[in-house]
Parts: sequence; structure tokens; C-alpha cells
Amino acid sequence: MRLSTRSRYCVRALLDIMVNGGGVKPVPLSKVAERQEVSEKYLEQIFIILKKANIVKATRGVKGGYILAKEPKEICLGDILRVTELEVTPVKCSANKDYCDRMDRCICKVCWDNLGKVITNFIDSITLEDIRQMSITIDEGMGAIVDLSLTKLNKEIKRLKKERDAVILVHNYQRPEVHEIADYLGDSLDLSRRAAKLPQKIIVFCGVNFMAESAKVLSPEKTVLIPRLDAGCPMADMITVEELREMKNEYPDAKVVCYVNTSADVKAESDICCTSANAVKVVESLKPKRIIFIPDKNLASYVAGQTKKEIIPWYGYCYVHEFIRLSDIKEQKRKHPDARVMVHPETKPEVVRIADFVLGTMGMINLAKKSKIKEFIVGTEEGLVNRMRRENPEKKFYLPSRRPVCVNMKRTRLEDVYHSLMEMKYKIEIEKDTIKKAQKALKKMIAIK
Ligand code: 13P
Ligand code: SF4
Repeated sequence: MRLSTRSRYCVRALLDIMVNGGGVKPVPLSKVAERQEVSEKYLEQIFIILKKANIVKATRGVKGGYILAKEPKEICLGDILRVTELEVTPVKCSANKDYCDRMDRCICKVCWDNLGKVITNFIDSITLEDIRQMSITIDEGMGAIVDLSLTKLNKEIKRLKKERDAVILVHNYQRPEVHEIADYLGDSLDLSRRAAKLPQKIIVFCGVNFMAESAKVLSPEKTVLIPRLDAGCPMADMITVEELREMKNEYPDAKVVCYVNTSADVKAESDICCTSANAVKVVESLKPKRIIFIPDKNLASYVAGQTKKEIIPWYGYCYVHEFIRLSDIKEQKRKHPDARVMVHPETKPEVVRIADFVLGTMGMINLAKKSKIKEFIVGTEEGLVNRMRRENPEKKFYLPSRRPVCVNMKRTRLEDVYHSLMEMKYKIEIEKDTIKKAQKALKKMIAIK
């Protein structure tokens, strides 16, 4: 699979129309061509396809041009790529089941299928609106967005929160303006545990789906709201209950340890949960020698290096951490020789090997605060680094040059939190039986000191 320049020009042209037309004013292609430095004829060809796919509408006449056919938040990157590239799959065999007669025996199949799933998930989870937001965020630096409308929204959210007697829990990887409205800011498990202890009956969870689900599993009597239904975690989606059951059948003597980054259904099918901070302890707490460890292959590899147990991994991964390259870290080490390296165990084994510290997100926050070290190279999502910089202004934190951004985490904006509180949406609903079983797996983990 190779994305062509057509897709890039197409996205740029659509953003141009969105920004310059403001959703109401038709934008002539000649102007787009001029601003984006691309031939008008080339754009015309692309726009015929986009019009057929109902992504843009054309108006004729002197003031004619193109406008988006839908709201920018209703047009996802996947819709655009599927019309410009036709096929967006890593290899032919992951798209066409009849392509190869070795399919049932092929050891790469799981890998290609997963890669296909993560690509589809990724491109379907980003909308034109997100791309515009990301470009603002990235260009101006994460902490630098000062916008009057954000200040107003912030006030409205606080008012509504009081009125409804709700509490807002925010994950470390969220946008800086969402950090600002947090009652509690933290890692996924700590926030869910907190949710269970807080007196408020309404919890707004700004994070991704599996986190809000964990909060609901631990506090089923409360109303747990997630502001964006489409804030998923591609890694959590890489394993289904059916796939886990197949694995259990294959290794009947093994116990299943599942990382918290899984759906409630998958947790319900597992023996015990773990986080990046306690994975080794959890594995060591189990009697059997064989452990099925899902879904992150990198965390599994890290755990395998710390225990004598036999770890049977699932080949899922987090695209944000997987794409932190060894060369990126080495480059930062060359530039900042006094800095120490801390990375999340979701990074690749070769990155973990050169790190001075391998820690979960709260472990990193605590190290940054308590250690005497003044400079760190940090291998995790940039939201966490923004928090470290805010909390430790006298210290220096460097990210890999290709900044690790979880677009799923960045989907939640202040206006989504506002609508969430205003309309009491989106409520996390999980079947009673699933809650009971998933709660058992989570509580077993919590009981381990
Ligand atoms: P934490 O469990 O440390 O919050 O991390 C969650 C996550 O998504 C890491 O990528
Ligand atoms: Fe999932 Fe990775 Fe985003 Fe964490 S950073 S929510 S594991 S995609």
C-alpha cells in the first residue's frame, strides 16, 4: 500500500475550502490551486471524484466554486482516502480472503489483519475538523492556544458541572485546554479507581473508550459520560473476545493477563487485568507457568524480560508508541548528552533497551517531579510531556523529533465536554454480566499491592 500525492493534495484542498469558505461561501478551484501551489486541472479531476462521493458540492456562476457537502466533523480521512486511493489495506491478502490458498497457515496473517484494522481505525477516527485542530495545535505549540471562546467554554463547563454535581476526570494525554478543566488529571486506572470513591454520581471521562468503560465497571451505579463516542483506542480494538477464546483453547493451561487497554468484553473473558506500571507484579502473582498476555506485544516483550514465566503475546500495539524510533531517541541523545531517557513500555524493545527508565504514565510524572535529574528525553505521547513541563518549569523535557500524538486522545475538545454535560451524553452502557466478570479481573489486580 502506498498513499499517492493525490490524497495529500486532496486533503489540503478540502482544508482550504473549509477554512476559506467557512462552510457557506463557495471557493473557486483557481484560488485553491494558487494557494496550494498545484495545477487547477489536477484539482478539477480530483473534485469530480469528491463530488460523486458527496464530500463536496459545486455551485455554478460568477461566485461559483466548491463547498463541503457535510460538516467537517462528519468527513473522515477514511472517506477521502477510499475515494482517492480506492484500496487502503497493507497487503492484498488482508483485503481479499480468496487471494492466497495459504491463508489458514500463514504466520503473518494476524499481523497483516491487525495492521489493516489499525489503519482503518486510524483513518476513520480522524475528521477534517480534527486535522484542522491538529495543525493549529502542532503549529502553535500545545500550550499556546489562547482563545476567547475557550475561556468562555471553560466558564460554562464549570457552571454546568456545579449545576449537575458532576466530576471531570481527564487523562494525561488530553489537550492542554481539557487538562485545565480537570478535577482530577491522571492515568487510566488511577482515574477509574478515583471515580469509584468520589461522592458525585455523574462522571465525565475525558479519555478513550476503554478508560470510561473501566470507570463504569468499577462504579456501575454511577452515570459515566464520554464526550466523544469516537474516541477509541486502536490497540484495544486489536483483539476481540472471539480471538481471545481461540487463544485460550490453544493454551488451556495458561492464565490470561489483559492490559487495561482492552474492551470490557475482553476484560470479562480474562483472568486478571494489569497496567503498564504493575504488569510484571501481576504476572508474577499467578501460579501457572504459561501466561497469555494481551493485547500489546511490546508490553508483553518487556514483561517477558523481567520474569521466568512463559509469556504468550498477542500481536497488538499502540501506533503512537510503536512509531517512536530508536534513531529518534539516539538523535535526541546526541543533541542533549546530559539528558536521561524515560520511555513507556508500549515502545519497541530496542527503544526500551536503551532507556534509563521504563515507566507507566504516572511513574513518569512522579520521576520528573521527584528526581534530581534536570533533563529528560521522553518516549511517550506529548500530552504527558506538556504536563511535565507545566509542573517542572525548571527542568527540560525533549520529545522525539517526530512528535508522538494520539489523535484519538486529542479528539475531545472543550465544546465536546460542554455538550456532554449539557445533553448528558454519551452514556457508557455495559451489560450486567460483563460488568460482573470484568470487575472481577480489575479487582483482582487492584488487590495486588
Ligand atoms: P496509562 O494506563 O498509563 O494511563 O496509559 C494509557 C495509555 O493509553 C498508554 O498509551
Ligand atoms: Fe491507545 Fe496508544 Fe492512544 Fe494510548 S496512546 S489511547 S494505547 S492509541
